[in-house]
Amino acid sequence: MKVIVVENYEEMSAKAAEILTDIVKKNPKAVLGLATGSSPIGTYQNMAKDHRENGTSYKEVVSVNLDEYVGLTADHDQSYAYFMYENLFKNIDIPLANTNLPSGSAKDLQAECDRYNALLDEYQQDVQVLGLGSNGHIGFNEPGTPFGSTTHLVDLTESTIKDNSRLFASIDEVPRQALSMGIKNIMNAKSILVVVSGKNKAAAVYGMVKGEITPNLPASVLQLHPAVTVICDKDAASLL
Ligand code: GLP
Repeated sequence: MKVIVVENYEEMSAKAAEILTDIVKKNPKAVLGLATGSSPIGTYQNMAKDHRENGTSYKEVVSVNLDEYVGLTADHDQSYAYFMYENLFKNIDIPLANTNLPSGSAKDLQAECDRYNALLDEYQQDVQVLGLGSNGHIGFNEPGTPFGSTTHLVDLTESTIKDNSRLFASIDEVPRQALSMGIKNIMNAKSILVVVSGKNKAAAVYGMVKGEITPNLPASVLQLHPAVTVICDKDAASLL
């Protein structure tokens, strides 16, 4: 695992965008595994800036996102589909038809998981971007998720519901379930890029980089992947 410690969120975002745009410049047909949350927003802003100023094109890029809330349609302003459109897709030239997320409003959620797993078999991520939950989750793979898991229906933990409630009008509006790529789908990526900042993530960062490899801290599985880069700010790295 390569750990790059930077000063702050801005530096983290610039560095992460540089890695991602390099991948796209070298391979215009790259498959980008993308993530939501506040951690990658700055990365996406830098990618949009690079697209505007340097013309890096995403016309042939395919994206696959980690997860989506159950029960929210793509036009709900807290859905991850909406997040991706607002924070990245509308600001670059990727055709929307090339962008993929699990659908949290599918009638048959198991069939939707099966569809997404088949899609991931077809489009292996050249890079998978990850944020880190304060409890060590990646995607929505909560503590206890088996390392062999594929896309599945998740019951969110109380700590995740609480963490994510800041973005909703009230905690009662936070969905209780999500569809998430499993650990196996994440580990199948050719490379993995973790962006993490802030003191509240320091314990999870320690567990991910130096802790015991255990499903109790899902991100610890990344120690077993041959090509992981972690970009974290000083605060997030403070326990390393
Ligand atoms: C959410 C997402 C994760 C994300 C994590 C951290 O629960 N499902 O993919 O990495 O929270 O979010 P943030 O970056 O906002 O701290």
